[in-house]
Formats: sequence, structure tokens, C-alpha cells
Amino acid sequence: MKKISAKFITLEGIDGAGKSSHLEWLAQLLRSRGREVVVTREPGGTALGEQLRELLLHREMHAETEALLMFAARREHLDKVILPALARGAWVVCDRFTDASFAYQCGGRGIGESRLRVLEDWVQQGFQPDLTLLFDVPLEVGRARLLASRGPAGDADKPALDRFELEQETFFQRVRQMYLKRAAESPARMRVIDSRRSIPEIRATLEEILLSI
Ligand code: ADP
Ligand code: TYD
Repeated sequence: MKKISAKFITLEGIDGAGKSSHLEWLAQLLRSRGREVVVTREPGGTALGEQLRELLLHREMHAETEALLMFAARREHLDKVILPALARGAWVVCDRFTDASFAYQCGGRGIGESRLRVLEDWVQQGFQPDLTLLFDVPLEVGRARLLASRGPAGDADKPALDRFELEQETFFQRVRQMYLKRAAESPARMRVIDSRRSIPEIRATLEEILLSI
């Protein structure tokens, strides 16, 4: 009989691509198949990680400080949440992981990929997601969705743009290209989802992909 083991699934994409809109739905789909599912996010996912997230999203800092803090939060997240969940047989669905560090800190900020691979090896020791869903949209689509979902500072229902979301179009162009490059390099792990489509169309594709793993 095929052994059913817990999987680590990550969701990626430029800001506004639409990935968070599918997070809970994906978890419910897996739960309906009898699996325990932990939903989490990066940066964040632990008490310390959420504090680091606040700094990362709102405080100016050197690009390498940013990369180091992303991996510091990830180390904590792996130790406290991701690895214990997988060890007890729960599936983990995570909003962003290390592909985001390569896309944003290397692609966006210009840190060399070899430098980030050192941090990746240190923190992950070969551990990788089983499946990464890359929600891909042209920049203008992501931007329009993002702006529609964000409001002025102080609006509790619509949070203001954070430090990353305030970046220039060229930054997001580089982030998107890095995501697509990584997807082309790891086709077995990363699946590119055309996120220009409607939410039901995207979910039909996600169901097909999840049936195959
Ligand atoms: P992300 O997590 O990738 O930044 P969100 O899931 O928060 O993106 O989506 C950003 C905005 O776009 C939200 O207002 C959401 O309702 C909307 N949105 C998400 N997916 C779609 C879609 N497929 N079609 C139209 N609007 C979408
Ligand atoms: P996220 O919560 O996914 O933002 P949103 O749901 O609003 O799209 O991520 C917060 C930001 O952190 C996002 O702009 C991307 C950035 N980020 C990095 O730059 N590097 C990383 O390693 C991670 C995990 C996120």
C-alpha cells in the first residue's frame, strides 16, 4: 500500500497575486480528506517570528539585515511549528517560505544567490517544501488587486501598504522573474498557477494538483 506521509506545501507570488485568498480553502480541502492541517505564514508563524515580521514589514534596514532576519524567523518557525507538525503526521500549508527570500532579497534587493544559499543550507539542512504553488500574475494585475485591498494609514479594515508593497514596479519585475526562474529550475516541486483567472478556475487547477501528490 502506498504510504501517505505528511507534506509541506508553500504558496508564493508577488504581492497581490492572490495566494492568501486560497490558503484556508486549500487547508479545508485537505481536511475534508481526513488530514490534520496546520496553516501558517512567513515571516511569522511563531510569537518571536511575528515580532520579527513587524520589524521586517515596517522598519528600514540594510538588505542583508533583512535577509538574516527572514532566516532567523524561519529557523524559529521550523523548530517550533513546521517540523513538529510534520513529525506527528500533520500537513503544513505555509504562506511563503524560502523561495520568497530568493525572489525578494536576491531578485528584488540584489543580494547574491550564493550568499542566500549559505543561509538556506544552515537553517534548512536540505529540508525543502514537497510542493510549491507559485501564483503568477503580470505586475499590473497584482498591483491593481493590491491597491484595491489596501487603504490609507489608520483604516482598520484595509491595512496600509507595508515596506515591501511600497517598492517600485522594477523591484516587483525582478521578484517575479526570480520566482519564474526558480520554477523553471525546479519543475517537480514548483507549479506555476495562472492567477489572472477567476478564483473558481484557479481552485479547479489546485484540486487537480493536490490529487496528484
Ligand atoms: P496575496 O496574498 O497574493 O498578496 P490576496 O490573496 O490577498 O493576494 O489578494 C489580493 C486581492 O486580490 C484581494 O482583495 C483578493 O480578494 C483579490 N483577488 C485574489 N485572487 C483574485 C482573483 N483570482 N481574481 C480577482 N481578484 C482576486
Ligand atoms: P505576506 O504576508 O505574504 O504579504 P501579503 O500577504 O500581504 O502578500 O509577506 C510579507 C512580505 O514579506 C511580502 O512583501 C514578501 C516579504 N518576504 C520577503 O521579502 N522575504 C521572505 O523570505 C518572506 C517570507 C517574505
